[in-house]
Amino acid sequence: MNILGLSYMYHDSAACLLRDGEIAAAAAEERFVRIKHSVDFPIRAIRYCLEAGGLAVRDLDAMVFYEKPFLKFERILQTHIAAFPRSRKSFRAFLPMWLSHKLCVPQTIRETTGFAGPVYFADHHYAHAASAFLPSPFERAMVLTMDGTGEWSTLACGVGQGRDLRLDKELRFPHSLGLLYSAVTAHLGFKVNGGEARSWAWPRTASRRSPPSSRSSSACARTAASSST
Ligand SMILES: [Fe+2]
Repeated sequence: MNILGLSYMYHDSAACLLRDGEIAAAAAEERFVRIKHSVDFPIRAIRYCLEAGGLAVRDLDAMVFYEKPFLKFERILQTHIAAFPRSRKSFRAFLPMWLSHKLCVPQTIRETTGFAGPVYFADHHYAHAASAFLPSPFERAMVLTMDGTGEWSTLACGVGQGRDLRLDKELRFPHSLGLLYSAVTAHLGFKVNGGEARSWAWPRTASRRSPPSSRSSSACARTAASSST
């Protein structure tokens, strides 16, 4: 069975080809377009994976997107409604983009690649957990995922055994260690969804170099909130 996993429209667009349960190829779009953290549809990464795996699009049994857009849309919509009218400007920016692109993943995949088979959607934290546990050398392990946001989860915990994976504990938005990390990153003057590694490394190099600039705490909170979309 040949399955192609995809991520795009957020940060670090990428593709990964699984052939009979084994990773045959994986690539980030930024390597081909030379744009760091590219969010574009990963057509070049897809081409690379298929070529490396010796397959054509018609040989794929399924494509899988890395999260569930409608659940994420629900979360963002509820967040904007709860913050109305302060969220009015952000709402006007996000709604057209979601309606025209982010809720149209299967159509985009079919139109761009010509794929006619099924398109599935993985729960975001299951995607993270599977990418860590399934290729690991462990038969049984506790699995912990932490990020800014997924659909509603921001942290998930469970157990992996063999080919099974179960996440039964979660922390839900707006509580998020990842968003706190992003807020600190923005406060240090680095870009959210890309600069986090720099904010991690910065204390080690602080004696030699200062961050680009500091921001006010309100600016940093806004930046972290916008990163959750
Ligand atoms: Fe994530």
